[in-house]
Amino acid sequence: MKHLLAARDLSVQEIHALFSTAKKFAEPVSKGETLAILKGKTVVNLFFESSTRTRLSFELATRRLGGGVLNFAVANSSVSKGETLIDTARNLEAMGGDCTIVRHPSAGSPATLAKRLQGHVVNAGDGFHEHPTQGLLDTFTMIDRLGSLDGKKILIVGDIAHSRVARSNIHILRKLGAQVNVCGPATLLPPDPKTLGVKAFHRLEECLPEADVVMALRIQLERQNKMQIPSIQEYAHFWGINKAREPLLKKGCILMHPGPINPGVELDPEVADGPNSVILDQVFHGILIRMAVLAHLCAKPEELKPWN
Ligand code: NCD
Repeated sequence: MKHLLAARDLSVQEIHALFSTAKKFAEPVSKGETLAILKGKTVVNLFFESSTRTRLSFELATRRLGGGVLNFAVANSSVSKGETLIDTARNLEAMGGDCTIVRHPSAGSPATLAKRLQGHVVNAGDGFHEHPTQGLLDTFTMIDRLGSLDGKKILIVGDIAHSRVARSNIHILRKLGAQVNVCGPATLLPPDPKTLGVKAFHRLEECLPEADVVMALRIQLERQNKMQIPSIQEYAHFWGINKAREPLLKKGCILMHPGPINPGVELDPEVADGPNSVILDQVFHGILIRMAVLAHLCAKPEELKPWN
């Protein structure tokens, strides 16, 4: 692999190879050890949109692998003077960047960068297109709890239409044999669910009881030209995963959210912190998956061998 631009491009073999490496990293990370796989390498975090988990876990993943990090913050950069994404990225690469992690509001910008940079590029979220490392860490978490995903029913609830997280998850889940259902108001569902290979529902009561995994998503108001639902209160009433709906959950079902959560809208705090929730496992697995991605992209084959 030279770049990681989209979950759609990953083969089943590549997904399993990344999972296998991520699993092996769990022990050294839990012991607080630093490896030397990225010794002498620099990872550039080029984020043009807000981020908490993704940026910090790429930073931590790089440090755990012994590499250095260059953090770019758009707010106080020369972007305000008109510098373009490509010029910014090329300058950071000229400072010694070996791998550029990019988050940008425009779909396709990581692919454009990959053509203009010498080094590796990882998509950390491009508009509502894809967020491949989130898709990988989510599916890794599901396998960790449920074993094989073959034939499992995964329900994604909320703003699927504008969600890069949903799209990356759907691509990986379908490759791994899971059945993906989506549920939400008609305006937030993908216009043609069949082309994505998912089944659409409008009422939670119809699809919640059979789900092995329930993933709630934030409404991506920043990606909507105008509000696509009558009100946040109405959304919470019909599609919120709350205490009243908890008895509908299948026994052993796991509850996920990529974060950030809007409490009381898509997910109630007591459910987010309840026994079904694996939300903080997702966060921890984010470090392991990003370490695996960086190692597979940047490490020499002999360095990667023990972790394959
Ligand atoms: C998501 C994102 O930015 O796409 N967050 C994340 O990376 N964990 C989801 C969101 O913003 O709702």
